Order: sequence, then C-alpha cells, then structure tokens
Amino acid sequence: MAVSLRCFCTWTLLVLVMVLSVNAAEEKDELKSRYDDEWNEHAVEDPEEVAAMVDESTRNSTERRKLGFFSCVTGNPIDDCWRCDPRWRLHRKRLANCGIGFGRNAVGGRDGRYYVVNNPGDDDPVSPRPGTLRHAVIQDQPLWIVFKRDMVITLKQELIMNSFKTIDARGASVHIANGACITIQFVTNVIIHGLHIHDCRSTGNAMVRSSPGHYGWRTMADGDGISIFGASHVWIDHNSLSNCADGLIDAIMGSTAITISNNHFTHHNEVMLLGHSDSYTRDKQMQVTIAYNHFGEGLIQRMPRCRHGYFHVVNNDYTHWEMYAIGGSADPTINSQGNRFLAPANAFAKEVTKRVGTAAGVWRHWNWRSEGDLLLNGAYFTLSGAGAAASYARASSLGAKSSSMVGVITSNAGALVCRGGRRC
Ligand SMILES: *[C@@H]1O[C@H](CO)[C@@H](O)[C@H](O)[C@H]1NC(C)=O
Repeated sequence: MAVSLRCFCTWTLLVLVMVLSVNAAEEKDELKSRYDDEWNEHAVEDPEEVAAMVDESTRNSTERRKLGFFSCVTGNPIDDCWRCDPRWRLHRKRLANCGIGFGRNAVGGRDGRYYVVNNPGDDDPVSPRPGTLRHAVIQDQPLWIVFKRDMVITLKQELIMNSFKTIDARGASVHIANGACITIQFVTNVIIHGLHIHDCRSTGNAMVRSSPGHYGWRTMADGDGISIFGASHVWIDHNSLSNCADGLIDAIMGSTAITISNNHFTHHNEVMLLGHSDSYTRDKQMQVTIAYNHFGEGLIQRMPRCRHGYFHVVNNDYTHWEMYAIGGSADPTINSQGNRFLAPANAFAKEVTKRVGTAAGVWRHWNWRSEGDLLLNGAYFTLSGAGAAASYARASSLGAKSSSMVGVITSNAGALVCRGGRRC
C-alpha cells in the first residue's frame, strides 16, 4: 500500500511537470503566432532617410526657438509638439502623433477608449482585478491607460503587455518599483510615457496572464526595467529609470521600429542592450532611435550596447559613464549625431566607444560614425568603416547637428511633473 501510494505521488508530480512545460512552450507559441504574420515588415528599407527626418525635425524645432515663435518652444521637437498646450489633459492622445525616428508610427492606444487605473495592487497575475494596471495592459482592444492618482505599483510578476496600448502617467507620479517590471513581447504599437521605473527584480516560475483569453507559465525573467522581445513600433518617452537587476531597457529577438527618447537613466551598470547574441542574425532588421535622453549619475556602460542593426544616437546628453558609453559587436551601424559626451576623470575611460571582443582587423569595417558630437574632458569617439572615410566626413559637415542645444533639449528628460490646467 505504502509503495503504491508513493508511486501515485511520483506519477502525479510527473504529470504536473509535463503540463507545466507544455504550457511554457504554448505561452511563447501563442504570443509569437499572433505576431508572426507581420514579422519582418516593420523595418524600413533606408534607415538613413528616417535619421535625416529626425535631424530635420530637430532643426525645425531649434529654428522656431531661435525665432521666438512661442515662449514655450524648447527646441525638442517631441515636446514642442504637445507641451505648449495647457489643456494637455483634454488632448492626451495628441502625444501619439508626436513621435520621431524609427518608432514614430507607434500609435499605442490612440484609437481606443481611456482606461483609468485606480488600484496599485497586483494580487493575482492570472486573474487581475479591474482597475489594476495589469488588467488594463492585457486587454485585446486598444486602450489609452491613465492613472487616477499617485501610486507605487509593485508587480508580483512581469507585466506582459498586449498590442495597441499607451501607458500615460502624465498628471500622476507613478512608480513601477521593487518587483517585476514591463515586458513587451511579440506585440506591436506600444507607447510608454511618464513612468518612474526602478529597483526591478528577477521574477518568474509562475503563471501570468497575457490576454483575456490566455495565461501561461513564465520562466525566470532577468529583471529588466523594460524588456522588448520580438516586438515592433515601440516608443519609450519621458521615463525615469534606475537600478534594476538586469538592463534598464533591453530590446532583443528581432525587435525593431523603436524610439527611446527623453528618458533619464541613472544608477545602473548595464543600461541598454540592443541585440542579445552575435549569432542571432535576425537582429539585422533592428532599427532604433535613441534621442534627447540624459545618461546621468551612477551609470557604468552600455548606453547602448548594440548588435547587427542600425542605431541612430542623436542629441543625447552623456554626463556620466565609468567604462564606456556606446559599444557593440557583430557589425552594427552606429550613427552618432549631435550628442554631448562628457568623459569621466579616469584617464583610461575617455573613449566613448567600445568594440566588444573583436579584433581591429574585423571592426575597422563596421560603420561607426560621429557627426557634430561635442566631446568634452578628453572624450574621444573611434570612427570606423564608412564613418571614418574622408568622403563621408565632407558630406556630413553640411547638416547643423545642434549639439550646442543638447543641454536645453534634454533638460526635462525623465518623467515630467504635470498638473491639470497648466503646461507640463
Ligand atoms: C520642417 O519644416 C518644414 C517647413 O515648415 C516642413 O515642410 C517639414 O515637413 C518639417 N520637417 C519635419 C521633419 O518636421
């Protein structure tokens, strides 16, 4: 009797383990199949064109500022698109039309209803209560998600977002902190604006809901602030990010059409990973715009660290790094324009760039260029490939790159303090 009971228990356990692992496989398959139809259609053919558009909108905005069009114009084209409006609260969805760069077509929840989060709780990641952020982000229809009041949301498990969502924290101080953070996996059209994201931890080995009709087993997550995985049309704007277990923002597995703008990054080692493996060549389609961010106090490296794709790093303010600012491997194209790089005191950390684990004979063909960057305190940018060619340097000297404006353009990086009836 005792023996057969033990057998029974072992057998039950085995079945349970099998069910769980089938579920784990299903989870990724279902998310992926929802996305796969459109896979690969999100990258543009000529990334230089999109980079030139960003340059032009910055130039337009800085010109308007010089001409004194409106007293509120800052020279930051994203902000100038909506921040002059004291009635921003009535026109929240206008933000969706203010994007620039590769993620400019992300509409988020523009075409849907508003959803007001009034409950900071996350009691049940499988059956989230109405009124919680998790209940909002998993819905199938487009939603523009706002917050009733200030709150700290400590997530038990990753917040797995569904397509066509905007998280818009303007008007409240919203912290996603001390727990799991945000996952944007195999979905499209996500805008995240105005959050404080910090102290994210590794979570997992649990069931988590990803849509009204589906939940599945999640293995351990790294503990990124925002993890973008096989996703496209993503715009991350005006967030404050610090101190997470893994990256503050990581984008991997063929993610593309991404803009990361106006964010304030502090207190972190490996800030931003764009592409996770040299051998994952699908990341050749990765196209990311990194604009008007402030890479600030307590940062060490990877701002970003890139693989394979095309990375436009423009008008950012780099005030702190301990090891390097921009790095990569596997032949990424890096187009650095009009940034301000302030090198640290350490004489061995003055180089902005780093080629990770690659012989010079190989990386000298990679196209890494710098145009109009302001290099301070001994900072230097090592050019390579077409970016180092004399013909290129001549052609590029035509555009004004506004590095002198970077201080002003990025002075409000991070989550804004917005109150109703007044300009943000
Ligand atoms: C810049 O301004 C010009 C003239 O107003 C306009 O035609 C053009 O579309 C603007 N470019 C961008 C990228 O906003």
